[in-house]
Amino acid sequence: MFPETAVSLDALRALQLERLCGALRHAYDNQAPYRAKCTAAGVHPDDLRQLDDLGRFPFTSKADLREAYPYGMLAIPREQCVRLHASSGTTGRPTVVGYSARDIDLWADLMARSLHAGGARPGDIVHNAYGYGLFTGGLGAHYGAERLGCTVVPMSGGFGERQVQLIREFGARVVLMTPSYMLAIADEFERQGVDPRSTAMRIGIFGAEPWTEGMRAEIERRLGIDAVDIYGLSEVMGPGVACEFVESKDGPTIWEDHFYPEIVDPETGEPVAGGQPGELVFTSLTKEAMPVIRYRTRDLTRLLPGSITSMRRMAKITGRSDDMLIVRGVNLFPSQVEEQILRDPVLTGHYVIELTRSGALDDLLVRVEARTALEGGAAGRSADELARRLKGMCGLSATVEIGAPGAVERSMGKARRVIDRR
Ligand code: DLL
Repeated sequence: MFPETAVSLDALRALQLERLCGALRHAYDNQAPYRAKCTAAGVHPDDLRQLDDLGRFPFTSKADLREAYPYGMLAIPREQCVRLHASSGTTGRPTVVGYSARDIDLWADLMARSLHAGGARPGDIVHNAYGYGLFTGGLGAHYGAERLGCTVVPMSGGFGERQVQLIREFGARVVLMTPSYMLAIADEFERQGVDPRSTAMRIGIFGAEPWTEGMRAEIERRLGIDAVDIYGLSEVMGPGVACEFVESKDGPTIWEDHFYPEIVDPETGEPVAGGQPGELVFTSLTKEAMPVIRYRTRDLTRLLPGSITSMRRMAKITGRSDDMLIVRGVNLFPSQVEEQILRDPVLTGHYVIELTRSGALDDLLVRVEARTALEGGAAGRSADELARRLKGMCGLSATVEIGAPGAVERSMGKARRVIDRR
């Protein structure tokens, strides 16, 4: 169905080199801020002779996009953009992304390819609970599912009760949303006394936030579905830059015919040796309205060789370099805490990490929820055990609070895992 993914490694590298030359030239000719960076670095698109030469070119960062707010990074006249999206911009200005008609078309193709890899098939009913709006999740998934030939239910986030009702009554086989929201909906199934296994739902394609293998197991166990990982970011396109195959669930395959990945040391920007962890960097090979050359995603992962296709995979994202917490001098990612929480079968994946400071010291509080109301000293025992495991993992003493089901606030989209009051 997607013959482009059956390409040999040699043919793929040749295609990438050809496209990369064109992408660099397009950015240089039409994106003044990027041309200025090249000039300052003393490089020119003609300097690219092989794929490895890309490392000589300057990075693009989120700060560059912010500085160009709103339209300074467009490489085509604004009038030729048929759509704009923007990132939430919780810190500072949002970043704006423009799309030409051809970009939207390609995005739909790549999302269709992603959903197909994830197990969706033409004719399926697809319940899309990614948020519609400036966020790329809703519309990106929507167009892809239509392109694949599915029947899309454009549900967006919110209305937990109705989510369950429509998944049941419309007969969705595939659901799309963030993994944390899927857990909230699992609770809602339970509250309504509906067994998810009695519905047509078989596959969930989840992304937009980091989630661990423990979370995958939790979702699959509670809902009786296959949980598949989809990755993307608005600056590079939106969802569908990479997606797992449901057959292997071995990390998202990067659609390398359109996005060239690199891993660099997040501190120095130097490329890391093959397979080592670092920051993921993407160069768009075919984008028209807003090409990005060596975009620093801040996502931490490593590249893995292709499995089902020749295209490389990425390991599950462990966190973002800007999400890394420094607690009493120790580096800590929320996903490490999640991993420890989900090792205890009585705890759920609803959790939040709170940081406060008393005097010179940071205090780490982990609030998590029990699956069912715990009797007697069971909550205390689970809390002590989790505190012990956290200490063993990172050396930090944490206070663990285990609340009753529903105690931790639910999100409809990306979960907020950290409250830093320091
Ligand atoms: O979250 C696009 C998306 C929508 C992806 C729906 C998948 C599904 P942004 O709002 O720009 O775009 O946020 C991008 O979210 O840099 C990662 O930090 C994080 N992220 C996205 N997918 C994953 C994933 C969308 N599968 C940022 N695993 C990225 C871990 C993810 N983190």
